[in-house]
Amino acid sequence: MTVSRVINNSGYISQDARVRVEAAVAELQYVPNTLANSLRFKQTKTLALILTDITNPFFTTLARGVEDAASDAGFSVIFCNTDESEVEQDKHLTVLIRKRVDGILLVPAGSTSTSMAFARQRTVPVVVLDRTVPNACIDTVRCDSEHGAYELTRLLLELGHSRIAMLSGPPAVSTASDRVAGYRRAMAEAGASLCETLIFSGQFTQASGHSMAEAAFRLNPPPTAVFASNNFIAIGAYRAVRKAGLRIPEDIALVAFDDLPPALVLEPFLTVAAQPAYEMGRKATELLLARLAGQLPPERQEIVLPTELVVRRSSGDKLLKK
Ligand code: RIB
Repeated sequence: MTVSRVINNSGYISQDARVRVEAAVAELQYVPNTLANSLRFKQTKTLALILTDITNPFFTTLARGVEDAASDAGFSVIFCNTDESEVEQDKHLTVLIRKRVDGILLVPAGSTSTSMAFARQRTVPVVVLDRTVPNACIDTVRCDSEHGAYELTRLLLELGHSRIAMLSGPPAVSTASDRVAGYRRAMAEAGASLCETLIFSGQFTQASGHSMAEAAFRLNPPPTAVFASNNFIAIGAYRAVRKAGLRIPEDIALVAFDDLPPALVLEPFLTVAAQPAYEMGRKATELLLARLAGQLPPERQEIVLPTELVVRRSSGDKLLKK
């Protein structure tokens, strides 16, 4: 019992006993078997975070919020990456449930409905982050993508743009469809004629941003502004603008969702709808831990965080009528 109290740092232990036990642990290079504890307490003190693109600084910042909140509560975190694939997502879910993680934080890939049914059957608490899962009554923490997109589009309209190309992610992903919805609402509210050929659907990648931007430049007349649905699409679009010999904002305005981490950008110039990624990670983890501790009512909880409009040089000045 004394050794157990020292190992688990619980209960009264005399200094002399602690010293003797710690010396023996060091000499034997003893490492506690947490599996035994897990079986005994039916808890592994482990959460899992499943992301769709671990190379994206939005998700690494979100992951840091998750890890800090989990660590404050004495939990470890297993990180998994799906590359927006529901097949990969289901594989990770299967392994994680077999490993008896206590709870799962999920950025859903695609519609995710099959995965949610899978997790629900196994009574593993899941909190969805960043996106929503259609027709799933599940705890969710996300940003208001629709309003953030509405604000970015309204800014461009107020600067005199009407031919605004919308470079979006996959329509099945809620953040992509919500951002297109915000763009449409702002265009409709301003009475701007919306040309459907200005809306492009691709992937949340730099390559897709580049190809969608090149397709937009081939329109006649071409757009005077580009709205990139996330940071990676924006980087791809920026490279396409430079390859076309154009300048931002002199020849074309550019706005995007997601700020880039200030620590990585020497001279921030992109006008963005910034998402509080770190706060989203922390709040989602705190919600999951509260669900695990039985501190929440049974009905689904949803936390919607605001985006912040950060106006910089890329959106340019008032458009001079050409
Ligand atoms: O860059 C990451 C952001 O864009 C997230 O909101 C993700 O869902 C993608 O839409």
